[in-house]
Amino acid sequence: MSDNLLTVAYIGAIALFIISVWGLSKPETAPRGNIYGIIGMIIAVVATALSHEVTGYGPLIVAIIIGGTIGAIAAVKVAMTGLPQMVGLFNSFVGLAAVLIGFSELLKLDGTLVGVDLTIHKLEIFIGVFVGAITFTGSVIAFAKLQGLVTSRAVMLPGRHWVNLAMFVACVGFGFEFMSVASTEAMMLPLAVMTAISSILGINMVMAIGGADMPVVISILNSYSGWVGTATGFMLSNDLLIVTGSIVGSSGAILSYVMCKAMNRSFLNVVLGGFGEGATPTGTGAKIEGEATPTTAAETAELLRDAQSVVIVPGYGMAVAQAQHAVSDITKFLRARNINVRFGIHPVAGRMPGHMNVLLAEANLPYDIVLEMDEINDDFPKTDVVLVIGANDTVNPSALDDPSSPIAGMPVMEVWKADAVVVFKRSLGSGYAGVGNPLFFKENTFMLFGDAKKNVNAVYAELTNSAPETVQETVLVAS
Ligand code: TAP
Repeated sequence: MSDNLLTVAYIGAIALFIISVWGLSKPETAPRGNIYGIIGMIIAVVATALSHEVTGYGPLIVAIIIGGTIGAIAAVKVAMTGLPQMVGLFNSFVGLAAVLIGFSELLKLDGTLVGVDLTIHKLEIFIGVFVGAITFTGSVIAFAKLQGLVTSRAVMLPGRHWVNLAMFVACVGFGFEFMSVASTEAMMLPLAVMTAISSILGINMVMAIGGADMPVVISILNSYSGWVGTATGFMLSNDLLIVTGSIVGSSGAILSYVMCKAMNRSFLNVVLGGFGEGATPTGTGAKIEGEATPTTAAETAELLRDAQSVVIVPGYGMAVAQAQHAVSDITKFLRARNINVRFGIHPVAGRMPGHMNVLLAEANLPYDIVLEMDEINDDFPKTDVVLVIGANDTVNPSALDDPSSPIAGMPVMEVWKADAVVVFKRSLGSGYAGVGNPLFFKENTFMLFGDAKKNVNAVYAELTNSAPETVQETVLVAS
């Protein structure tokens, strides 16, 4: 393929990626956005494969088959609840690729580059490998934490900020050595040592971040993987990689900022694992005592029948139980009886940004009754019944009234301000952040223990059994 044609293909792919990101910003346009992204990626891969720089098709085809197979298996096998781990793992691949490309670029230095060109290329290699190694090990640890392979609690080494600073300074020092020597052999040692140190730095930084802040970390590492792509683009002089990496890097950075704001965390504190004032709380929280009030599906149906206004707050447990369709049935039933039913979505409910929105969209619930936390929090005092479906940390009052809680300061859905709260979960056990929840012991809270899907279906059965035939018909046309 000629260079001109390659440029045109790259510009087309870039345009499609931009339209894709724009499409992904709303649930209605997300499927279309996804398709634009797929087409852009196909154009990018085919054009790159046909460029004059690619000569050995054997290894390329083998790599595409292996990578494509892993991607296809992951897409089919990994459940929605496992997506954040998958994103974490895939981010690590980008980091590892940057490290390997950096070393191969170093081995390819053959004296054709001199002067400023050589200096810039060496700088590209060094920075690319540095960020790549941090992204690689940091993402592997993030994956292990989300997968439950290592503790989700913050693991803080004594004096870790000084240790991290010392490692960073050492990397800079090896950078100077790398830049000052001339032969490839002499460059190899400082680059390799720096790779080892920055790999440890990545582990140390992510281990120090507690469970409740992990969503932000995944998003930050996602942003890093974009910048790693950009650095790799500079190493390989590939404009498409530079632009695409920048899109991923900047959109990941914006998402991290938005999530930090939603969780009342300072961006810098999360990245540094709790540095300085207002840092991530590391306490274990006050002891929670009391007696929970169990309830039944019949009693819950009774509460709903008498309500004028109902808010449903879903969480990770709804995803685990796959209860969204059952929740949708109840919603349609109540709306058909003129009961005002709305959904309140916490920005970090579930295990990935937009997790709940995706599930509710899948269950064909209208977007206009699905509200953000800020839009609905003031309405709880005017709400008759709140159904908390498999949510826990995101409805925990100790975030607001216990400064020693690991989630202190995080805005939560203030469901306890409603007249009655029914919590659908299997036990009084804690959520992802591992914190006890005083909501379960409040006077106006009723626990409907068991699998969320089973219990939501049971409540629906109670509602429909007691409803006159004509109402059933209205329900069918209510969507
Ligand atoms: P969580 O606090 O994790 O609580 C989910 C609850 O669902 C659990 O306490 C569990 O209680 C219940 N559950 C599990 N399976 C169930 C089933 N089959 N039926 C009924 N209940 C079930 O969830 P949340 O309120 O959505 O909060 C999200 C948490 O995850 C936050 O701490 C957040 O920081 C973190 N996180 C979020 C993300 C993103 S980006 N959203 C990414 C990583 C981590 P039982 O075991 O008693 O049933």
